[in-house]
Amino acid sequence: MDLRAIAKRRLPSGVFDYIDGAAEDERSLARSMTAFADIEFKPRVLRDVSEIDTTTTLLGEPMAFPFIAAPTGFTRIAHSEGELAVARAAGRAGIPFTLSTLSTRSIEEIAAVNPGRNWFQVYVWKDRGLVEEMVRRAGAAGFDTIVPTVDLATFGRRERDVRRGFELPPKIGLDTIVDGIRHPSWTWDFLTGGPIRFANVAASEGSGKRDGTDAINLAAYANEQLDPSLSWDDIEWFRSIWNGPIVVKGVQSVADARIAADLGIEAIAISNHGGRQLEGSPPPIELIAPVRDAIGDACEIICDGGIRRGADIVKALALGADATMGGRAHFFGLGAAGERGVELAFGFLHDEFRRAMALNGLRSVSEITPDVVSPPRNRTD
Ligand code: GLV
Repeated sequence: MDLRAIAKRRLPSGVFDYIDGAAEDERSLARSMTAFADIEFKPRVLRDVSEIDTTTTLLGEPMAFPFIAAPTGFTRIAHSEGELAVARAAGRAGIPFTLSTLSTRSIEEIAAVNPGRNWFQVYVWKDRGLVEEMVRRAGAAGFDTIVPTVDLATFGRRERDVRRGFELPPKIGLDTIVDGIRHPSWTWDFLTGGPIRFANVAASEGSGKRDGTDAINLAAYANEQLDPSLSWDDIEWFRSIWNGPIVVKGVQSVADARIAADLGIEAIAISNHGGRQLEGSPPPIELIAPVRDAIGDACEIICDGGIRRGADIVKALALGADATMGGRAHFFGLGAAGERGVELAFGFLHDEFRRAMALNGLRSVSEITPDVVSPPRNRTD
């Protein structure tokens, strides 16, 4: 949250609000965080924690600690290096990086800078040819996992953006010039960093004007280009065009987790899109235990949303998650201090995770079991 405070000072307010904001009254965003505060540890002491191992595996591959850099759209608005900075820092931190379909650096640019694990998040355009081409490019570039995101049947109403008429990239008008003078380091970086656009779409055949070169209203763009008819059949379609593991991101109920498990999906990300989509969606952390109870070990479970401290990662794992995911941590870091800020964000989470393990008497990730926490609110589905 200190990185958030610095990002708030450094970024023009419209840019900060796009990152920080969420749907409607932002209650789901707030509850995603406070739900973690409602869970307490049952610490054990005198357990010799002189050696602590934070490593784990997810989808059969190792990671330094159980956190994944979530996909974030339009990342270059925080800093011109954008997703390159996040991918490099994730690689150095030993955690997977997820590239958004609405990213401002391309699949190939990411593969060139991050020798670590890269995942590709997929929105489903009405133009399936475009989706298929991007998924194939991700495979050719060595990305190991795709992440179809299924909570965007229509775009959430982020009212901070609506009130401002915020467009991406930001339009240069009188108010942005005034804002720019007040935030000179961001403005200099923005003006000298080259045009911002949807790099993956731009690199695709027949991208036309869909690449975001012309300033767009993201809600109008998403509603026009993305397919609201998406269904579980499309998840099966992904199987036919992709050989690796699939993470379905945006599962928000036990019933849907069961369907994913029955389809043999490798992992689900329990996620409410950082509170940016459906206002009133449940806090992801509260669904972890009921989903784990319902599906057993059929899929790996990722808890996405509300993670602000390494201790939150311990809580999510104790309730049954295999790993956690978050986007604002690196976005705030990037806005605060570029790549160094992202490095700090991942470093803080890793250190805090290790410290919370030590103070709970936990030596390895496999020791993070349900008896580490007090039972959460009584949600059963
Ligand atoms: C895009 O996915 C966003 O949440 O802005």
